[in-house]
Amino acid sequence: MQGTLTTTGTLPQHVAIIMDGNGRWAKARGLPRTAGHRKGIEAVRRTVEAARELGIPYLTMFGFSSENWRRPEGEVFDLMQLLRFYLRSEIAELHKNGVRLRVIGDRSRLSGDIVTMIENAEELTRGNRELNLTIALSYGARQEIANAARQMVREALAGRLDPEDVTEESFSGRLLTRDIPDPDLLLRTSGEQRISNFLLWQLAYTELVFVDTLWPDFTKRDLEDAIREFNQRDRRYGAVGTR
Ligand code: IPE
Ligand code: IPE
Ligand code: MG
Repeated sequence: MQGTLTTTGTLPQHVAIIMDGNGRWAKARGLPRTAGHRKGIEAVRRTVEAARELGIPYLTMFGFSSENWRRPEGEVFDLMQLLRFYLRSEIAELHKNGVRLRVIGDRSRLSGDIVTMIENAEELTRGNRELNLTIALSYGARQEIANAARQMVREALAGRLDPEDVTEESFSGRLLTRDIPDPDLLLRTSGEQRISNFLLWQLAYTELVFVDTLWPDFTKRDLEDAIREFNQRDRRYGAVGTR
């Protein structure tokens, strides 16, 4: 079933995407991996635009994992250059379109100039409401969870937190996603069916959709198809189903 989305389905409030398959896209064409990453940026642009057109309020995209630092130095360098290019060329447009940009991840490993661009973009777009775009960069969910635990232990040792007050809610409030609802739909491209250390806490009841499309080929149509698939799921949250 393809075509435009009907109004009968519910729109997920938060779509998270693991953008995978740039390297394979390039390899299939006899091109260097970086060519795939470059094409991948165009898919990011298309997808942000599509989410905005569809009226999805939250979109979170996995751009670079804490484990991706293990890639060859040259590839990491190229990815950072592309990130600079994306931030430099896209922020004005995002702002014009009412997009609020947030970045989650370990900023201490990113170059100073990139961190400055991120901070400026977050400040500039803070008041925007059209679409909440979160990009995960140098992000690892286990690290995020360990950091939240460390912070709570520190607060407890300083007498500012009673161990009884360590709850799901207070713990969520120490995660990088504290201002963002949990994803309703997680989409991963390229046929891989794994989470790769993305949003482990937040995905507890997220619907997972895996598609074979390689990220550089991803279009609005693929996003609409995934939303249709999402609409066929019966979200039970451990209770009794509605169908
Ligand atoms: C996703 O594409 C982009 C990043 C992880 C930065 P890959 O680079 O992982 O592409 P494949 O999985 O090797 O095809
Ligand atoms: C996950 O993709 C990270 C991003 C998409 C940024 P990877 O390609 O790094 O994941 P693995 O290595 O296949 O699990
Ligand atoms: Mg990959």
